Amino acid sequence: MPFMNHPAQDTQDIPHAPTFEQTRHRFPGALDKVYMDVASRGLILGSARDLAARHLQDRIEGIADKKHYFALVEAARGKFARLIGADADEIAITKNVSEGLNIVAGALAWESGDEVVLCSAVEHPNNIYAWRNLEARGVIVTDLPADGGAFPTAAALEHLSRPGRAPKVMTVSGTSFKPGFRADLEALSRACEQRGTLFVVDAAQSVGIAHLDVAAQPIGALAASTQKGLCALYGMGFLYVRRAWADRMRPQGLARFGVDIVAQHEADYDPGAIRYRDAALRFDLGNYNFLAAALVGESLDLLLSHGTRRIDDYVTGLSRRLADGLQEAGAAVVRHASARPSNIVCVDFRGDARRAAGVLDGLKARKVHATVRGSLLRYSLHLYNNQDDVDAAVAATRAALADTGGHRP
Ligand SMILES: Cc1ncc(COP(=O)(O)O)c(C=O)c1O
Repeated sequence: MPFMNHPAQDTQDIPHAPTFEQTRHRFPGALDKVYMDVASRGLILGSARDLAARHLQDRIEGIADKKHYFALVEAARGKFARLIGADADEIAITKNVSEGLNIVAGALAWESGDEVVLCSAVEHPNNIYAWRNLEARGVIVTDLPADGGAFPTAAALEHLSRPGRAPKVMTVSGTSFKPGFRADLEALSRACEQRGTLFVVDAAQSVGIAHLDVAAQPIGALAASTQKGLCALYGMGFLYVRRAWADRMRPQGLARFGVDIVAQHEADYDPGAIRYRDAALRFDLGNYNFLAAALVGESLDLLLSHGTRRIDDYVTGLSRRLADGLQEAGAAVVRHASARPSNIVCVDFRGDARRAAGVLDGLKARKVHATVRGSLLRYSLHLYNNQDDVDAAVAATRAALADTGGHRP
């Protein structure tokens, strides 16, 4: 099958990039309210309805074309690759982030005493259980304490520099789901590379929003899904695995699409010795979510037309202004001197989950959509947001804080 190499996305000239205001108008959900909840799920394009209707109509009429379906998947694979600076054959198609992480965990040759390093205080449970599940095989999961709500980069670097057996895996989310700090992927990936440690990134919150470039940073594996920053559906994701790692990995689960045989048809079987497909393609299993592939193809075109560097700068700028505005309005914005800001801003109600929920209700009544995680009120932005949204969110928060009893949470 023809898998092409794609140049890293940020090296491309983008002469006809739309403006962010033009793009905002392609998301109806961004126009009738202030939508600041991409960290739960992103808005999808208004054009998705027609695309999905055409897809379903083909099935209703029984005229679906499987070749076209596969072409949709390969097109999506190529665009995932371009988005992060990978080659297409370093991308496996998955259904979500945790499947990607579990594929990696299952494909390494573990020995008793091998170590995985993470910081559970900043990770989503799906980037903890995949590794804790290895404890039954004698793997040690070292849980570093967080540094003021952020991944403890200095402690992790120190841990990696210790003499003796190097950790087998270090993992971190590119942007934490709460409070939304960004990890120093550059420093961590380089230190892991030096020690021969596989550096695994949970990109659930960063893909499509933050500029990720595996050509510039030696990230070993990266798992993502399509319903948040990629502005598409649940039930589809991708797993990047750097060729040098993937070629040494043995997939725990195997199906036809992961096997390299001469025959071309999906139902062909070759009784000869099993040869895995190149790099991450060996991790593909059975049939794909073709509808999700069609929709993400379109949203990826849009993201690529802006370029992730520009999206990152734009969204980070908006969220920085949101954080400043909320702080001025009397909210306890979670900040940390050494943590890098992202598209996520959290307000800390210091254990008072009821008040956080009350303020969230007040926001909703004013057409501002955010969410609550524990006693943190979380606002998360994407390229369809603008300065008017920021101003409206600050004003609504000021009012909702006043409604629920005074200023400082
Ligand atoms: C950092 C992070 N990892 C993982 C997930 C979810 O993983 P999955 O795609 O497997 O449901 C989320 C969802 O919110 C997340 O924020």
